[in-house]
Parts: sequence; structure tokens; C-alpha cells
Amino acid sequence: MEKNFKRTLVTCALPYANGPLHIGHLAGVYVPADIYVRYLRMRGEKVLFVCGSDEHGVPITIKAKKEGCSPQDIVDKYHKIIKDSFAGLGIDFDIYSRTSSATHHRYSAEFFRKLYDDGKFIVKESEQYYDPEAKTFLADRYIVGTCPKCGNEAAYGDQCEKCGSTLSPEELINPHSAISGSEPVKKKTKHWYLPLDQYEGWLKEWILEEHKEWKPNVYGQCKSWLDGGLQPRAVSRDLDWGVPVPVEGAEGKVLYVWFDAPIGYISNTIELLPKTWEKWWKSQDTRMIHFIGKDNIVFHCIVFPSMLKAYGDFILPDNVPANEFLNLEGEKLSTSRNHAVWLHEYLQDFPGQQDVLRYVLCANMPETKDNDFTWKDFQAHNNSELVAILGNFVNRAVVLSHKYFGGLVPEDASPAPIDTETLAQIPAIRKSIEDSLDNFKFREALKGAMEIARLGNKYISDTEPWKTAKTDMARTASILNVSLQICANLAIVFEPFLPESCRKLRKMLNVNINNYGVHTNDDNFDTVPQEHPEESGIVLSWNLLGNRNLLPAGHRLAEAELLFSKIDDEAIQKQLDKLEEAKKANALAAKAAAGTASKAAPQKDSCTFEEFGKMDIRTATVLEAERVPKTDKLLKLTIDTGIDKRTIVSGIAEYYTPEQMLGKQICILANLLPRKIKGIESQGMILMARQPDGKMRFITPEETLDNGAEIG
Ligand code: MF3
Ligand code: ZN
Repeated sequence: MEKNFKRTLVTCALPYANGPLHIGHLAGVYVPADIYVRYLRMRGEKVLFVCGSDEHGVPITIKAKKEGCSPQDIVDKYHKIIKDSFAGLGIDFDIYSRTSSATHHRYSAEFFRKLYDDGKFIVKESEQYYDPEAKTFLADRYIVGTCPKCGNEAAYGDQCEKCGSTLSPEELINPHSAISGSEPVKKKTKHWYLPLDQYEGWLKEWILEEHKEWKPNVYGQCKSWLDGGLQPRAVSRDLDWGVPVPVEGAEGKVLYVWFDAPIGYISNTIELLPKTWEKWWKSQDTRMIHFIGKDNIVFHCIVFPSMLKAYGDFILPDNVPANEFLNLEGEKLSTSRNHAVWLHEYLQDFPGQQDVLRYVLCANMPETKDNDFTWKDFQAHNNSELVAILGNFVNRAVVLSHKYFGGLVPEDASPAPIDTETLAQIPAIRKSIEDSLDNFKFREALKGAMEIARLGNKYISDTEPWKTAKTDMARTASILNVSLQICANLAIVFEPFLPESCRKLRKMLNVNINNYGVHTNDDNFDTVPQEHPEESGIVLSWNLLGNRNLLPAGHRLAEAELLFSKIDDEAIQKQLDKLEEAKKANALAAKAAAGTASKAAPQKDSCTFEEFGKMDIRTATVLEAERVPKTDKLLKLTIDTGIDKRTIVSGIAEYYTPEQMLGKQICILANLLPRKIKGIESQGMILMARQPDGKMRFITPEETLDNGAEIG
């Protein structure tokens, strides 16, 4: 069913603004989408790339309650973090807006109202859980109780996070409201439903017959939904956070988050292109692609298309290349257990190395099955592919051209068969990369691009221009000419995958790229793409890939710059340690939740104010710290008490290194009778807090105080 398309609308699942993004999101949705968009743009196609934050739904309201702030505060915070992470990773949307925007509220309400007016909904009364004390309906998540499967007392009405079982509120033992603690009662309420059963026949035809080309994982999931039979789905909820249902008598009700969120794709387009948005959504020569994770398939293949169909006018997705999930070090990524690599933290820990993550996530993309990310593999991909092959080749080609030819592209004066043979391989690789990208096979495509880098690296190693330079300058010129032509090809082929590195590479090669850029005004989106008029000189584009004369002889290169750098074991170990720490913290939290942790110690016998007053507790600063020889637990500290300098021996070596103690302000009991410990006189005691697991932490003032300040 080849259609003739004039433009492509690419959407990415709108991330929930109730937490930061991790590598699973990136590998599953945003990296493939961004690669695809960059590729199409370089081929000269008109593309609109739309995303934004999904800012409604119950989890956001729960998080706000927990943190004692408003849902708006929560989404403001995470919208910014998420948006910055995308920018940091070169995920280049034309618009990244949000569903709390005025445009979205207006348009999603309008959308609902049109379906309502056209009689597309059915209304049903049902019994829902209600909190009689807080006078509010309770989403399943708001009901807590004991899990019938594992006994966890903090299970939710939809899921037990301890054992992972899916639950319904009925199954909970001793259910109570998370808001007031009272026992929920059932109460009648009215909601609007989209009768998906009425769309079943049409969906079967449209997906199962007309879209057999969809990825097997997507097609398979659709088929099992459709075979199972569809039910009407409620599109409203009793909740006070979201888009109010724009109908009389719907007070206290909002659009269900899965109804309003996909409309966000449309309203964000409207926000960007208020005059011409309909061309992107209602014109048969627009092709729409939804990039999503596998948990979103039913919404994007069945529910949203039914909404669009019910409305009329709208185009439907041409493809929905959903990915499976990414695991981390052999375990499921988990936000609640903090088993994740957070993008904002990655960007801090590996500044300037966003392309490495893009590369590794693309190489491990969970396209057909769940896949694993490990830090060792990350390091190996960087060190033995990006650094040793791609970076090394480019560096040798550019540095040697500077060394022997003053930074000018040398003449291809003395060609040899190996030159032609090498260059002749690129067009076939290009063809296979295009096949892969056209079919959303990003791993294969990346392998293809890397093949060109390998080709170059092998060519320059085989021809050894640093040796020929001693005897045959004409031949050296040819070798470096060919090498630089390969570099220019790399600048094209890697642009979708490694945009920041390609920007550097283009700078070195002193060339521009025509990616038909990010034009964000209506007029540009309507015209046939033009080469950027402001870009003079050499302009690369996808259709030049495979060309062997991209850089004319005499063209001036800029200085060489390293594209990639080695990542050492220490950096990797740090990341592994971070994951270990999260695990330990989890184990403790789980113990505490299960009530098996050693609880806080019981209160001691009463003491009088006078008794307390005898203790001279003061602030002090650690001046020197060293281990007490032949002990595991003891540190000898020299401290400034404000009154004097003295020695205290303290049993904290298990928890703090001497280096960590240096300069720390602490609290001491100054008038404890001196004691000899391992032959050293200890004059006082450091105040420590012992945690339920036995770990000790010293008590430090909130801000630095003068030493000797009395505490009491
Ligand atoms: N926020 C949803 C998720 O993270 C995705 C919403 S996609 C949209 O699973 F289409 F509804 F916007
Ligand atoms: Zn459980």
C-alpha cells in the first residue's frame, strides 16, 4: 500500500511529568524517533517532530500529596528536568509542550465536546470506591491495604509493589483510603464511555488486514486485544486534577488521562502551527508515525485511532514501531526501586558524552525483545568502537592531512585499486542502511554506519600514509584524499545517530549539512525544502552518501578535535556502586516496610533536667584524622573544641575514612571522663546517631558554627 506522502508527522509518547527519565525511556522511544527524524530530514523530507509532558493522572496527584505540594508544582519540576534531558541528549523536537497548557486544555475539551455532541459516547452509572470522610471518589491507587499474595501492608488497589502482583481493590485485606485512612464505601457515579466494541470490526480490518507490515510485537499485541473482544472504555474520572469534562452536570470530573494525553499530540501541533496544523493531521498525504514503548500499544493502536475515527477528518497512524523494554544489569529498570540510569544524572556524570549513550542504546535497542544495558558493555562500546575505530580513523585522517598538506585536502594524484575498491563499498552499505531505517531497524542501521567507519579505519591502517610520506608524497596525497572522503561520508551517515559528534566532525571538515533544519514557522513547513540559503560552501546531505568526491582538492580543513575519549574503569565502577547503593537502600526500606527491621531503640529511663544539664555538649571541628593501627574500627581524631585542641578516639572507622572526617564539624560530649583506648587517651566523645541497621552517622550542625558552641 505505498502511498505518496508529502510530509511525515512523528510523535513520541508524552512522558509523565512525575519523575525524571531513564535510559529505558530513551532506548525504547526517543532515540529511535530522533534517529528516524534526522534521517528523513537529511533525505529532504518534511517532518514535524512533536512531543511534550503528560501532566495529568492519579500518580501525579499522589506524589503531590506525599510531598506536600500541588500537582502543578510536581509537573513544573519534572517538565523542566525532562525537557532539559532531551535537549542534553540532542533529542530535537520541533515542540516540547505540556498537557497543562491552555491550548491543550482548550483543545482536548473541544475534542471531547465534539464526540459528545455527535453522540459518540455512552453514559453509564457504576459503583466506585468513595472516601466518606474526604468526600471524594478514590482511584484504585488511592486505596491501600494488605496484599493477599505476600502480606505487604502497603499494597495499592491496583498493584502490590513488593511482589509485583496486579490487584483490584476488592482483593485487598483491610482496605483503607490513602487520603483519610477511612474505610472506602461504594458509591454510584456516572461516566462517559467510548464504545470500543463498536469499532472492533473496523479495527480488525484496518490493523489485521491493512497493516500486516507492522512490527510483529505490535501486530501480535493488537491481534490478541482484538481477538479477546473490546469493551467500552471510560473516558472520564472523578478527580480534581486534569481537564474538566466540558459538559453540564460533570462537576468534579475530568477527562481520563489516557483520553486527553494523546490529544496532546494534536494540541501541541496547534500550539506550534496555529494556522497550518490541520495539514499535519487531516491531510491524506501526511504520514503519521507514533514512537512508543510496548506498554502503550493498546492506546496508540486501538484507543486513540478509535477516538480519531469517531471524530472523523483525522488521519490514522501509518505505523507504530513500538519497542520492548530495556533492562539494566540483568534486572528490570525500576523507578520506585531506583534501579535506573537517570538521564539528568548521566549528563552530569558524563558531560559532553551524550552521543556515547545514544550509540550504546541504539546498539542495544530492545527492538524485538527485551534487552540488557550493562555498564561494562557501555564502556566496551565506547572504548573499542567509538574511540578505537570511528574516532581513531577520523583523527588519523585529519591530523595527517594537517601534517603533510597544511590542512588542505590533497589531490588524488596517484590512485590505486584499493582506493576504488574501498570507496566502491559505500553505496551498497548505504542501501542496506536505508532499508533498515525505512523498516525501523535501528540496530542494523547503526551496524551499517559503523561498517563504513571500519572500512576507513582498515583502509588507513592498510595503506599506512605515515610510511608512504617518507617516500611517495603523491601516493600519500591520494590516501589522505580517500580517507577524507570517507570522513565526509561518515559525517553524513552518523548524523542521525551521533548528532553532536557529527557537528564536531563537520567543523573539522569545514562543511555544512542540509538537514532541512528545524523550521518552526508555518510558511517553511509548507514549502518544498530548500537548501539553507545562508549555508555556503560544501553542504552535505543524505543523497550524497556514497559519493567519492565530497571534498574538492584544496578545500581547507579546520583543526583536528577528538571526537571521543576513553572511559576508564573508575568511572564505570562509580556507576556500579551507585546501583549497589540503591539496592542496599531498597533492602532497608523493604525491611522497614515489612516491619522486620530492628525498630528504633526503646526509650531509656527518665532523667532529670539537672542530670541532662551535667553534660557539656559542644560543636567542634576535626583537624586531623588517622586510623588507630591494628584496629578496624577506631579513628584517632584531633579536634578543635573552641576551648582547646584534644584527642578523641572514636569507633567510626567502619563508616568514615580519615579523609572524610577532615574538616567536618561535629558535636562532642566534652566533659566525659578521659579513657585510655588502645593506649591513647581519649578526651571526650563524638555524638553519633545509630540507624536501625546499626550504621553510624555523626551529627553535624545545619550550618557551620563557631567551635565550642554549647548545645542544650
Ligand atoms: N505518559 C504515558 C506513559 O509514559 C504515555 C502517554 S502517550 C500519549 O506511558 F499518547 F498519551 F500521549
Ligand atoms: Zn504483594
